[in-house]
Amino acid sequence: MKAKELKKKYLDFFKQHGHKLIPSASLIPVNDSSVLFNTAGMQPLVPFLIGQKHPQGKRLTNVQKCLRTVDFENIGDDTHHTFFQMLGNWSLGDYFKKESITWSFEFLTDKKWLNLPIDKLAFTVYQGDKVVPKDEESAEIWRSLGVSKDRIAYLGKDNFWSAGEKGPCGPSTEIFYWKSKSKAPKVFDANDNNWVEIWNNVFMIYNRKEDETLEPLKQKNVDTGMGYERTLAALTGEQSAYETDLFLPSIKKIEELSKKTYASEKKNMRIIADHLRAAVFLLGDQSGIVPSNVDQGYVLRRLIRKAIRLGKLIEIGGCFTVQIAEIVVKEYKSSYPELHQNYVKILSELEKEEHKFNYTLEQGLKEFDKIAAQSKIISGKEAFLLFQSYGFPLEMTQELAAEKNIKVDAVGFKKEFEHHQELSRVGAEQKFKGGLSDASAETTKLHTATHILNEALRKVLKKDIKQRGSNITAERLRFDFNFDHKLTDEEIKKVETEVNQIIKLKLNIKREEMPLHQALKSGAQAEFGAKYPEKVSVYSIGDYSKEICMGPHVQNTSELGKFKITKEEAVAAGIRRIKAVLE
Ligand code: SER
Repeated sequence: MKAKELKKKYLDFFKQHGHKLIPSASLIPVNDSSVLFNTAGMQPLVPFLIGQKHPQGKRLTNVQKCLRTVDFENIGDDTHHTFFQMLGNWSLGDYFKKESITWSFEFLTDKKWLNLPIDKLAFTVYQGDKVVPKDEESAEIWRSLGVSKDRIAYLGKDNFWSAGEKGPCGPSTEIFYWKSKSKAPKVFDANDNNWVEIWNNVFMIYNRKEDETLEPLKQKNVDTGMGYERTLAALTGEQSAYETDLFLPSIKKIEELSKKTYASEKKNMRIIADHLRAAVFLLGDQSGIVPSNVDQGYVLRRLIRKAIRLGKLIEIGGCFTVQIAEIVVKEYKSSYPELHQNYVKILSELEKEEHKFNYTLEQGLKEFDKIAAQSKIISGKEAFLLFQSYGFPLEMTQELAAEKNIKVDAVGFKKEFEHHQELSRVGAEQKFKGGLSDASAETTKLHTATHILNEALRKVLKKDIKQRGSNITAERLRFDFNFDHKLTDEEIKKVETEVNQIIKLKLNIKREEMPLHQALKSGAQAEFGAKYPEKVSVYSIGDYSKEICMGPHVQNTSELGKFKITKEEAVAAGIRRIKAVLE
């Protein structure tokens, strides 16, 4: 089966069961700074899982672009990918376990759909704990569909799913596929790697609070995620998605460039293909980013630089990342038109990064060898020197060191780092672990302030200003927009005054739902390059501002307090960034 066919079948199946197709959200969470990337299809849906009404209704489906950094070390094995696509279907307080499980079973096993043999499937359910009961109900539903009890296992924490430390969560039932060519054993064994998890149905009925206790949600939700890459491998009978049409064109090119075979350099070639695919999707995202030394940009830099280093290792001569990127864009652009729209940016940023890194890589490797020859541990200062002077991300130094069986003083490196106040990787790492969309009173207020600022910039500075990015924490808002020069002190003052005047007018905030074309016709602001579903919600602040937005917002501008701009800077050519607070 071809990759596209699987996607189409999945979406058709759930559309037939009353689900509305929603577009994939950006890889970079919008208005949610608690995580660096969308790691699951449910992440952009958090407000709706906790009770907000979704404009498309209670049954949704999509293919979501996801990126996980926790699996970095596993990349190159059969089943992990940095960037991956998740097929998802959701019930927002509508159907529950019975429908969810029955439909999953039908989709996987029915001749009309995937036609997978029941004998190659196994299922796990939650064994229960002091607070959450054992999930007998799900086990009973699987049994009623003809599943043998040997293929149903009761497990612990693997069957309780949450995206972060707080937010919506619940017990889950996972579906495994026997990937080996040998006959599947009668009894399921969670420790046998031939059983690959392909689908996770989460029954999201709790909200984990700050103090870690669970409170029941207002509604019973279903959140499912099917691994597109893994399922495709299962269906094609391949050992891994790297051997399907998702990766083969890139891998063929890598073979050609390195004059080596995939069979002899499997792991390195897989990592290069994986990392450059992820880099293309990050650069080409609707909220696209560029390589840098902080947050998402740092992850992107790490991915590109590792691919370049491994490219050298397998003796690819000269710059090559662009050649792989061209293939990725060609293969994926029909499903992700943003890659086509951002084609020039993707190629030019890769080229720039590769030139920059190539320039120092060889020297850096020499320096590394020199340091490594002298001791059994690379000090924080030395690792920082490799970073500062030769552009080696800490993780690269650690990988190189591991190959020589020596250690790196990562704590010392971080100290050096903070000392130089260039990057707080500690902060970035906490974000990976962090919770979900923060709908606290502070972020909600800043969100409304962002809408006012967006309009104020147009009123005060220039009519054609558009949002190019937004990020909100409990402490501040951050807003990117197109503008051709650094704001003068006077311009900053004017913007602040405008926003504060609107706040003082005590305007009400109104939410409406309407078709996208009507929203655009009515003059509602939309983010440049963002994809929207056919039906959207629109937030108006009095007659002052109107934007397509998912919310949440305050009820009245009088709740906001005093608006103050704390920073104004450039982020890219023609793009300015404002940071602001409410006092
Ligand atoms: N959120 C769950 C997961 O990522 C199901 O989609 O596995």
